[in-house]
Amino acid sequence: MLIDAAAKLEPEALRCPFPAYAELRERGVTFVEAANAYLVTRAEDIDAVLRDHETFSSRNAIGAPPIPPESELAKHVPFLLLSDEPAHSERRKLVQRAFTPSRLAKFEPRIRELCTRLVEGIRGRTEVDFMAEFAVPLPIAVITTVLGVPDEETASFRRLSEELASTVGNHAADPADIVRIAKEFAALLAPSLEAAAAAEEEDTILHTIAAAERTAGLPRHDSTRFVMELLIAGNVTTTDHLGNSMVLLAGDPELADRLRTDPSRLSYFIEESLRLESPIQGLFRMTTRDAEVGGVAIPAGSRVQVMYGSGNRDAALVERPDELDLARRSPSAHLAFGKGVHSCLGNILARLESRVALETLLGSISRIELAVGPDAVDYLPSFVNRGPQALPLRLTW
Ligand code: HEM
Repeated sequence: MLIDAAAKLEPEALRCPFPAYAELRERGVTFVEAANAYLVTRAEDIDAVLRDHETFSSRNAIGAPPIPPESELAKHVPFLLLSDEPAHSERRKLVQRAFTPSRLAKFEPRIRELCTRLVEGIRGRTEVDFMAEFAVPLPIAVITTVLGVPDEETASFRRLSEELASTVGNHAADPADIVRIAKEFAALLAPSLEAAAAAEEEDTILHTIAAAERTAGLPRHDSTRFVMELLIAGNVTTTDHLGNSMVLLAGDPELADRLRTDPSRLSYFIEESLRLESPIQGLFRMTTRDAEVGGVAIPAGSRVQVMYGSGNRDAALVERPDELDLARRSPSAHLAFGKGVHSCLGNILARLESRVALETLLGSISRIELAVGPDAVDYLPSFVNRGPQALPLRLTW
């Protein structure tokens, strides 16, 4: 059965989980033993779960068991994604203004420079691993830029972020490691936060966090874990989105040519790529009381996996859901950034970064093809994150 193959993370099912999703949508909400969760796969049911954040708590959003609020670890783990109302919205409000289109637009020239530098690093090569050469290094460089971390500290930031990323969703990770990483982050950030507090203008995210410390009494350990959260939430997701977009373009050179001749369609392509190949396929919720979704009873204390990647291919959400269409009337009406109170804080940055990256790549490389057969592209062993582990491309300059 397709669902069982998918639940066992078989490479074929990871490469193309969509038939299994279709089977699940047919059945409605289903408890899947291997995932130890009720899988919610229809767009309408996903919407109902995300709206009702009182019944469906985010305390286990990344799938790990909820962290007891009184534990040492609770002071250090990211807080927006894993917190519930009213604390969640109170905290989100403190930093939200750093993520508006007008604030982020100022960073476009610098993001373009970073993209150009990465393209110059591979110029002339006919075969590259796109993930290692572009999709992995770009997001961390962009986040340190919008945070306002001084250049001389980006290497330490990168090292700590990689250590932090290896603990996320890893049930075997030692909580003591996360506490140590948080303490190192705190020491590294302190001088930058002091400098940000003294600045007259509010441009970077660190400026906004420093302002929240000053005016709203945001404690320093909350500032540090917010920075850690951005590094987790904004890195792998954007890397995967760049990789997934490149798979679509490499598989269809005519589509790439169309975007080169009509760049006004690029934003449509980005939305379709997010919808069809959602970098986050599914996140978790935990029921705080007995619930019912799509007519199926879910007892209190159950794990629920909300499958954005399946909802995005539901014919009830969009017509011809498996087709990439550059002329959709509401291209952004998808679930790739979630929905409701926890919807992605960084979506405007992610969209800006993808647009500038794809403009730079399509403008520099005249033909992009897969250097291996599509069946040789292996995907991450997960139904949370979707992206190629490596992506060998053949490039014509
Ligand atoms: C293509 C790239 C990205 C995708 C697909 C993505 C997807 C998502 C999704 C699905 C959620 C909802 C979580 C939930 O329902 O529990 C989310 C939340 C979040 N994202 Fe993103 N994200 C991306 C990029 C970014 C970036 C670049 C940043 C910041 C630098 C970011 C920061 C966050 C934060 C802080 C949250 C938690 C919001 C909250 O709980 O209130 N994301 N993201």
